[in-house]
Amino acid sequence: MTDSTHNENKVALVIGASSSIGEAVCTAMLGAHKKVIGSYHSGSLDFEHPDIDPIRLDIADAESRGRCVASLKEHQIRLDSLVILSGAIAGCSLSEYNDDQANRTAAVNFVGQGLMIRDLLPHLAKSATVILVSSIAAERGSFDPFYAASKGAMIPFAKSLATLKGQDITAITILPGPIENSTMFGDMSSETQQSHRQQAPRGRLLQPHELAKVISDMCQPHWRHANGAVIRLNGGAYV
Ligand SMILES: NC(=O)c1ccc[n+]([C@@H]2O[C@H](COP(=O)([O-])OP(=O)(O)OC[C@H]3O[C@@H](n4cnc5c(N)ncnc54)[C@H](OP(=O)(O)O)[C@@H]3O)[C@@H](O)[C@H]2O)c1
Repeated sequence: MTDSTHNENKVALVIGASSSIGEAVCTAMLGAHKKVIGSYHSGSLDFEHPDIDPIRLDIADAESRGRCVASLKEHQIRLDSLVILSGAIAGCSLSEYNDDQANRTAAVNFVGQGLMIRDLLPHLAKSATVILVSSIAAERGSFDPFYAASKGAMIPFAKSLATLKGQDITAITILPGPIENSTMFGDMSSETQQSHRQQAPRGRLLQPHELAKVISDMCQPHWRHANGAVIRLNGGAYV
C-alpha cells in the first residue's frame, strides 16, 4: 500500500498557506492528504487547486481564530496534520522597535499560534502531527530580536505539546535557514543575502520545494519518533 493510498482520507490545515512557501507546502501535503485547508490573512491564496480549500485567518485575533475553528467544527473536520507557516518580521533593530511592532510580532509568531493550537486540540485526529515552522534565528539570534525571541518561544511550546497528557500528538519544530525565493529572504539587502550564502558551508540555501517535501514527509507515521524534536534545516550554517 502506498502512503497516498494509506492517507487518502486525511486532512491537513496549513496556516500561512499564502506565504511565499505556502503553495509548495500545500501541494506537497496533497501527496499524503485528501484535502488541504490553507489559510490566508491579508489577501487571498494566489493559487487554486480543487483539493485545497482557502480559509481566512488572523491568528492574532481571537474572533478570527474562533470563526476558523467553528468552521472546522461545523464541517466535522478532524485534522490529521497541522502545519504553521505564518510569521511576521518587522525587520527592526532593538532600538528601532516600537511597542505595537513588538506586540504584533509576539502575537503573530507565538501567542496567537499557541492559542490557536489550544482551540484546535479537540479537532485533531488521533495521532495527529503538528509542525511549527520556526527559524534559525530561534537559536542563533537575529538583527531583529523580537522576531528571534518569538521564533524561539515556539520550541518549548512544541516540546510541551509533545508530552501533553491525554493527547497523541507528534509535535516537531523546524528551524529553516534563509529560504531562496521567499519573501523574508527577498526583503533582505543584497549584501545580507550574499552574507547568508557565504555562511552556508555547502554554498547553497534551502529551496521552498525542499522544505515542502520535508514537511509533508514529517506528517507520515515513520516520523512519530521525532516527537518533540527540533529539526535544523540550514545546510550547516549553524550547528
Ligand atoms: N523566508 C525565509 O528565509 C525564512 C527563514 C526561516 C524561517 N522562515 C519562516 O517561514 C515562514 C514563511 O516565511 P515567508 O518568507 O514565506 O513569509 P511570508 O511570505 O511573508 O508569509 C508570511 C505568512 O504569514 C501570514 N500572516 C502574517 N500575519 C498573519 C496573521 N496575523 N494571521 C495569520 N497569518 C498571518 C501571511 O498571510 P498573508 O500574506 O495572507 O497576510 C503569510 O501567509 C515564516 O514563519 C518565517 O518566519 C522563513
